Amino acid sequence: MTALQKAESIRARKGERPIAVLTAYDYPTARLLDESGVDVLLVGDSLGMVVLGFPDTTHVTLDHMLHHVAAVARAQPRALVVGDLPIHTYDTPEQALETARRLVAAGAEAVKLEGGLRQAEKIRAITAAGIPVMGHLGMLPQRVLEEGGYRKKGKTPEQTEAIREGAQAIIEAGVFAIVFESIVPETARLLSASLTVPTIGIGCGNNTCDGEVAVITDLLGSYPWFVPPFARPEADLAAITRQAVARYVARVQGS
Ligand code: KIV
Repeated sequence: MTALQKAESIRARKGERPIAVLTAYDYPTARLLDESGVDVLLVGDSLGMVVLGFPDTTHVTLDHMLHHVAAVARAQPRALVVGDLPIHTYDTPEQALETARRLVAAGAEAVKLEGGLRQAEKIRAITAAGIPVMGHLGMLPQRVLEEGGYRKKGKTPEQTEAIREGAQAIIEAGVFAIVFESIVPETARLLSASLTVPTIGIGCGNNTCDGEVAVITDLLGSYPWFVPPFARPEADLAAITRQAVARYVARVQGS
């Protein structure tokens, strides 16, 4: 399947089967997630926090993203590989297209960028070049410094209307799906029901969107120093790692 066909098959899942999305930043994780049936592998700029040790995603550069997108793409997954456009790499439509092309050259099959109305022109430039785009609305991590923290969205009718307008604008510009981040559950459900492309929720409550995305370290419990309140871990790799390493150290050092 081509990248466009894969993206279209995700778009066509609206109203059919929920979409399972996980982040991946390296080759073995990409292989394992793909073998386990995930629909989309997102090389998210959460990379900056859970792999590279930065305090937020505003430190992530295009070079970081290219390096990790290439590693994920080497797994040749059946799942669609989506790469995030890092902050300040899509300030104009021309720059957005150039950045998207570089991510595709590294192995991404689609790209994701944050924002609504003000990003429509950039999305149009990328989709016109045949590159599928995923949108991202609600809480936008790349704006965390301007907003002074991570806040829930869609709490008031005005906020809800702004998200709806943004969604409409980016759908018209050609996105095949939209991540909804930290939108209150009633609003996420209401908007999801009225939009024509799938919404992929994180921090929006259960069964409010057309799919879910989770950061892989939250799911596996491998980044124990910060766990978002909405995370639902399915494993405790931090504990397993500490136990295994303690046994190794005891074996090698003798005790
Ligand atoms: O960067 C990322 O991992 C993301 C998800 C949280 C949606 O954008």
